[in-house]
Amino acid sequence: MRRSKLRFRVIFIVADRMTEVITDRVLKVLFVGDIVGRPGRTWLKECLGALREELEIDLVIANAENAAAGAGITTSLVQEIQAAGVDGITLGDHVWDQRGFEKEIDRLERVCRPANLDPVCPGRDHLVIETKGQRVAVFTVLGRNFMKPRDCPFRAADRVIQSLDGQVDAILAEIHAEATSEKVAFGRYLEGRVAAVLGTHTHVPTADAAILPKGTAYITDVGMTGPYDSVIGRDVAPVVSGFLDGLPRRFSVAKDDVRLSAVLIEIDSSGLAQDIRLIVKGVMS
Ligand SMILES: [Fe+2]
Ligand SMILES: [Fe+2]
Repeated sequence: MRRSKLRFRVIFIVADRMTEVITDRVLKVLFVGDIVGRPGRTWLKECLGALREELEIDLVIANAENAAAGAGITTSLVQEIQAAGVDGITLGDHVWDQRGFEKEIDRLERVCRPANLDPVCPGRDHLVIETKGQRVAVFTVLGRNFMKPRDCPFRAADRVIQSLDGQVDAILAEIHAEATSEKVAFGRYLEGRVAAVLGTHTHVPTADAAILPKGTAYITDVGMTGPYDSVIGRDVAPVVSGFLDGLPRRFSVAKDDVRLSAVLIEIDSSGLAQDIRLIVKGVMS
């Protein structure tokens, strides 16, 4: 779904003369869904550079809560993912799965943890990244339906958005949640106030990418960047057996049918979205 195009004002300085040019340039942001384990990281490294160039992407944000063998992330994996072309990293309910990461997160400038964790938790509750002269903020909230109790994601979003008032050109809000209803309601709560509301956590891309009536791009789930011949990234057999008998098992990260799943969002000078498109790139596609 596409809104009418607004235009960016770009000032060029050539030989000390300032020329203002009106362009149709929009900011193109790629938001990559949960990177799962080594298969997800390897495929991201292989295809993101070409994708950035081909789609003329200005900014890449990725959720990497499952980067370390499917559970959490480490400082070295943050560096690896950023070297692959990711500008900002968000996390989810697996944020603290890797031992000691809570002592490292404050040193990682372009990594943020969910905004509705307890306020004593370390880590940034949002990021602001500048690209092409535009300041773009991103933050994540965890849902509360069928998940652990947390502070209210709606109130947490209000708090972060209010703290950014007048300081950024666009805001991306991520809702990392289990329940479709909570994600849809969150999208409608923030529409017109942020450029995009992007769902993550369930690892399966949904077919509802759209621009909401007040100009916010929305999708219920971006999908994961990892192995799709799996149960949401893990080997099929132990997960299926676990549903049958409930016995404890090791759920290893699967290996096959690895795809990158992301959305490409076009943001105009109003800070709202013109377009959202789901991009799924597998080895053969
Ligand atoms: Fe995840
Ligand atoms: Fe999650």
